[in-house]
Amino acid sequence: HEDELQELFEATIARHDRLEPRDWMPEGYRRTLVRQIAQHAHSEIIGMQPEGNWIGRAPSLRRKAVLLAKVQDEAGHGLYLYSATETLGVSRDELTEMLIDGRQKYSSIFNYPTLSYADVGTIGWLVDGAAICNQVPLCRTSFGPYGRAMIRVCKEESFHQRQGFELLMTMMRGTEEQQAMVQESVDRFWWPALMMFGPPDADSPNTAQSMAWGIKTHTNDELRQKFVDMTVPQAARLGVTLPDPDLRWNPERGHHDFGQPDWQEFARVVKGHGPCNAQRVAHRRQAWEDGAWVREAATAYAAKQEESA
Ligand code: 3HC
Repeated sequence: HEDELQELFEATIARHDRLEPRDWMPEGYRRTLVRQIAQHAHSEIIGMQPEGNWIGRAPSLRRKAVLLAKVQDEAGHGLYLYSATETLGVSRDELTEMLIDGRQKYSSIFNYPTLSYADVGTIGWLVDGAAICNQVPLCRTSFGPYGRAMIRVCKEESFHQRQGFELLMTMMRGTEEQQAMVQESVDRFWWPALMMFGPPDADSPNTAQSMAWGIKTHTNDELRQKFVDMTVPQAARLGVTLPDPDLRWNPERGHHDFGQPDWQEFARVVKGHGPCNAQRVAHRRQAWEDGAWVREAATAYAAKQEESA
């Protein structure tokens, strides 16, 4: 009987159809989905910290309002994604505990500090730009709830990317100090943005299986290449240089050739030794502990409602 279910599952994947929570699925498929979607959700929630750092110090009410809206969107993206993991039988509490005690990851990019206001624009332009390259294909991922969450996320992500690019464009039309601030920010975020796509395919233990299961529809290197090809003309439009001496158009390939990120740095950051890992996780732990009474009160109130219903 399990063989028939396995065949049914494989036929669904082969015809690029969707699995829904109540469908039978191999344990490895479910585990991979929980791992990836939970880490995606953790990334959205942790990602609120670097940007949130500038809400109180934005240079105008408009910039403050736009940043506030973006950070709130990230919280919402985290909640959609945790809801998708809940359909796979794990609770948000369990996943948060796993994040806080280091048993689950979040994107390396959020372990870098936001040292200048230009970082707000660079994160929108490069980090959300990279996220779009990664998340548009995920709209067609084989697990229904994840793909549907991505459709809503991608719509909001394009606003994030546009506001970041527009912020940088405004600064590039400003004083020399502002232009220098933008260039310095791009120099700091370019390589970490390329690392967001994960290790090279040859060093990616999960990509082959995730592609076979239709969880990923492109490999890490394919999406990284797409991001570089998309970003180079935007950098030219802005008037910033990307800090990669090997970056050049290759007419034979029809793509840009580019240098390799520092994969030792990547491994260090993923293992928890990046510039801000301890601070990010401590902040998340504090928020989780400070909010415990709210969760307890809401649960007690809901139980009372049920009793009196
Ligand atoms: N940061 C932290 N860990 C990373 C990583 C990164 N940038 N890239 C890879 N890793 C980890 C993987 O999680 C895996 O470890 P694990 O098995 O313990 O989970 C290991 O390194 C090997 O990498 P693989 O390529 O084999 O792993 P995956 O197949 O899971 O691919 C991924 C990694 C491409 C990030 C994939 O998980 C993915 O596409 N996730 C969904 C998108 C996502 O999570 N984006 C994060 C940013 S969210 C964001 O930017 C929001 C925006 O609004 C700002």
